[in-house]
Amino acid sequence: MSRQIKIEKTSTPKEKPDQRNLGFGIHFTDHMFIMEYETGKGWHNERIVPYAPLSLDPAAMVFHYGQAVFEGLKAYKAADGRVLLFRPQKNVQRMNISNDRLSMPPIDEELFLDALQQLVQVEKDWIPVEEGTSLYVRPFIIATEPFLGVRSADHYTFMIILSPVGAYYPEGINPVKINVENKYVRAVSGGTGYAKTSGNYAASLKAQVEAKDKGYTQVLWLDGVEKKYIEEVGSMNVFFKINGEVITPALNGSILEGVTRSSTIELLKAWGVPVSEKRISMEELLEASNNGTLEEAFGTGTAAVISPIGELRWEDHVMVINQGVTGELSRKIYDTITGIQSGKIEDTFGWTVEVK
Ligand code: COI
Repeated sequence: MSRQIKIEKTSTPKEKPDQRNLGFGIHFTDHMFIMEYETGKGWHNERIVPYAPLSLDPAAMVFHYGQAVFEGLKAYKAADGRVLLFRPQKNVQRMNISNDRLSMPPIDEELFLDALQQLVQVEKDWIPVEEGTSLYVRPFIIATEPFLGVRSADHYTFMIILSPVGAYYPEGINPVKINVENKYVRAVSGGTGYAKTSGNYAASLKAQVEAKDKGYTQVLWLDGVEKKYIEEVGSMNVFFKINGEVITPALNGSILEGVTRSSTIELLKAWGVPVSEKRISMEELLEASNNGTLEEAFGTGTAAVISPIGELRWEDHVMVINQGVTGELSRKIYDTITGIQSGKIEDTFGWTVEVK
């Protein structure tokens, strides 16, 4: 049963940014969705209000023990004016997996989708239409109960904010250079690697800073036990095309199940391209690079979409992939996914959801 969401419109709308120069996650729209949770009362007071800072108690548990989960998805405006969301059910399902792992309360799927639709409808004039742009949607939940004992909180706030964005990486669809991390680890089996929780990202920053200092855009994480098997990149899942077969690390509990990852696998299967989810080691990748069978590498993510990888550095080995230029298959997947997302290509998979 759909619940009534109160809408309070701003009296001071902001000036919209230049669509050709948006960057990522810099600009925010005029409104946000917010509701609260209390044990015994459930989620309540759902409302769309003018975008504004929050006032939180300094003892709010999120500041101390990090109970925070988030999601990311995108809204597009098609040439015929339809507003499209890409597979939003996947995000609410994953958010509930993250909630469960962080011992946070689940969110009602219908309420999440309703809030999302209504907020995007209110802000539809903010959806940019320039090539490579979209309206990034960031739902998140934080623990707000003021308490310093270590236990799961009894009060939470759920919010959705919106940001008109361009490419996540300054490289856009041009290949990025990635450093394979061999000192720090991101996740281990039994940990929180499969959850989209803020702490995973906080723990990744030091490696990212060190990679940047060496001239690399991102970090490729290896398994947390042997540092041998490939897991994922900082903000993306990862795929390799070796001798005609596309391989991505199998979900093992420490890898995030990306929506773009699943969509890429489904697309490749539909195209008849051999694709497998399996364990793959750096040794195997280096061998493929040395014997010339490593044909393409790319990352997948909501923010990054498809990001070709032109160079991988692992210890003293520098692997240049496809001469450092965007591969044919990476380009085709990028064009197809963004084409379906923006309504330019017919959605035969039933992935897009129209906001009405
Ligand atoms: C996304 O791709 O939506 C992400 O959440 C990755 C990153 C921006 C944190």
